[in-house]
Amino acid sequence: MEKRTLGQGLEVSALGLGCMGMSQSYGPNPGDRDEMIAVLRGAVERGVTFFDTAEVYGPYVNEELVGEALEPLRDQVVLATKFGFDIRDGRSVGVDSRPEQIRRVADASLQRLRTDRIDLFYQHRVDPAVPVEDVAGTVAELVAEGKVAHFGLSEAGAGTIRRAHAVHPVTALQSEYSLWTREIEAEILPTLDELGISLVPFSPLGKGFLTGTVDTSTEFTPGDVRTLIPRFTEENRAANQALVDLVEEVAAAHRATPAQVALAWLLAQRPDIVPIPGTRRLSRIEENLGAVTLDLPAADLTALGEAAERLGVAGARYNEAMQAMTGL
Ligand SMILES: NC(=O)c1ccc[n+]([C@@H]2O[C@H](COP(=O)([O-])OP(=O)(O)OC[C@H]3O[C@@H](n4cnc5c(N)ncnc54)[C@H](OP(=O)(O)O)[C@@H]3O)[C@@H](O)[C@H]2O)c1
Repeated sequence: MEKRTLGQGLEVSALGLGCMGMSQSYGPNPGDRDEMIAVLRGAVERGVTFFDTAEVYGPYVNEELVGEALEPLRDQVVLATKFGFDIRDGRSVGVDSRPEQIRRVADASLQRLRTDRIDLFYQHRVDPAVPVEDVAGTVAELVAEGKVAHFGLSEAGAGTIRRAHAVHPVTALQSEYSLWTREIEAEILPTLDELGISLVPFSPLGKGFLTGTVDTSTEFTPGDVRTLIPRFTEENRAANQALVDLVEEVAAAHRATPAQVALAWLLAQRPDIVPIPGTRRLSRIEENLGAVTLDLPAADLTALGEAAERLGVAGARYNEAMQAMTGL
């Protein structure tokens, strides 16, 4: 499996695995906990070395799952997790990146992940009440103590990224980026280039939409996050189908699947981009990994990106409450 290097030298497989869906967000799980452990270990067997989780996924149980599954394979994998939510009675009620909270989360995450080192520790959301310099300074202390290896930010704006990076080098920004979510191209990607920070795009498959497996007939279960997202209303799914048709056309021309084309487009955008598609099925991990060796001609990739931009997207990627949580 091709390797890529994040930031100041964190080597990972060119595609990682987003683990969130194993504990929340996408409705009933296709397998029980033991099956998810098998999926995580199967991903490592297939060359995936980069796993993404967070304290808030579950909350807590996703880190526990990842920790249990990967404990026997710890020396082969890079574990990324995140702090920064205020979790009470099992649900997030806001953000909290006070230094004492970051330290508390680090210690608890280390335990749940059954390890002595978090390879990449992201601030999950910017906390307007805590200067990012204090956040970076706290992570720098954790790095000095050997509890954390690399520092990351998620959904932060260009100004925040600069301020954080001035205190402690930021290895990666994890933000939403895909064929239908391109906002970071204007200001944030040039900032990452300038500072030598890598990009870990989340929801690289558009929360499943870009794979062509979601359409107007799809009925989301009540716990599915897509019931809260404007671009997934039935009307907007109908309007956004043209984008999926386009991805499917390119896929058919190259004997690939839409998911592989969506991921290959991302992989081609920068040498240090490492998407983290989420799935709970080994068959889809295998399919998605096919993107790494799918050599689409540069002209086709450019044409795809331009056509997607012309088509535009109906509906916002977040509802108002979710958007308010971002640092953007
Ligand atoms: N930093 C942040 O704020 C943030 C926010 C959201 C997500 N994330 C991270 O990013 C990861 C990925 O994002 P995401 O899960 O939101 O979105 P995603 O990776 O774009 O899409 C996940 C969805 O696509 C489906 N899927 C995956 N591969 C497929 C394939 N080949 N064919 C058809 N369907 C496929 C999955 O279903 P099945 O599971 O049923 O296969 C799931 O419903 C998460 O796991 C999480 O670690 C971070």
